[in-house]
This record gives sequence, structure tokens and C-alpha cells, in this order.
Amino acid sequence: MSFLDWRDEFTVDVSWLDEEHAEMFDLLNEIHANVQAEETHFRLHYLLDRLISCTESHFAEEERKMLQLGYPDYENHRLQHKVLLNEIRLLQTAYREDYVSLSSEALAHMKTWLTKHIAGLDTDLARFVKRLQVRDPDTNDTTDP
Ligand SMILES: [Fe+2]
Ligand SMILES: [Fe+2]
Repeated sequence: MSFLDWRDEFTVDVSWLDEEHAEMFDLLNEIHANVQAEETHFRLHYLLDRLISCTESHFAEEERKMLQLGYPDYENHRLQHKVLLNEIRLLQTAYREDYVSLSSEALAHMKTWLTKHIAGLDTDLARFVKRLQVRDPDTNDTTDP
């Protein structure tokens, strides 16, 4: 069992959202495994960089989509993203300085944040996106708005 298992309850049923969330899970698992194995700081710096760029692009994509669709809860959702990104950046800065800030507690906090966010605001967003999706009657495939 990994640190963060991808389970059905985390699926929001919008493929690009699920794929990007799964990628974030993978990265958090990799960071956790490397912390447990007391892997080199160099490796952990690299993984943290990747987590930040992956999170930045995922949040930017969600925010772009919300604006495009005139999503009513945009400001609140964007604010939550901003708070988490700031926390990860602060964690990265602290880790660069003390080499201990990337603790199990810090990772557990990120895990809780991410799973709650997906189950809450991202699920609401997915519902909104799905309502606007067009379904092809021949193939039953959906097209994003
Ligand atoms: Fe998300
Ligand atoms: Fe989000």
C-alpha cells in the first residue's frame, strides 16, 4: 500500500482532471518513498521542483477552464489553489535551508489537503464541466465544452 492510493472516490469522471490528479498522487508517493528511504537531498529537491511545476500547471489549467466556462465559484477555488501553492513553495524554501522540513507531517498535510480539495471543490467543478459536456449519440463519447 502506498502513501496515497488512487481510489474510485477520488475520480471526478472528467478525464483530464483525473489524469492530472493521478500524476500529483504519483509525485507525492515518490516524494514520500524517497523521504522514507532517506534519499539524497539532490533527488528530493528535484522531486519538489517537479511537484511545484506539476501543481502550478494543473491549477492554471483548472482556473483557465473555470474562467472559460464562467464558473461561479472561481474566486474561492482559485484562492484555495493559491494557499496550497504558497505552502509548497514555503516548504521548498525551508527544506533548502534546513534539510528537515520535508517531514512526514508536512507530506501528510499535503495529502489531506489534496484529497479534501478533490472531494470538495474539484468534484463541484467536475460536475459543472460534465453538465456542459456534449455527448455523441453514436459513440457515447463526451466532448469537453
Ligand atoms: Fe485539481
Ligand atoms: Fe482545484
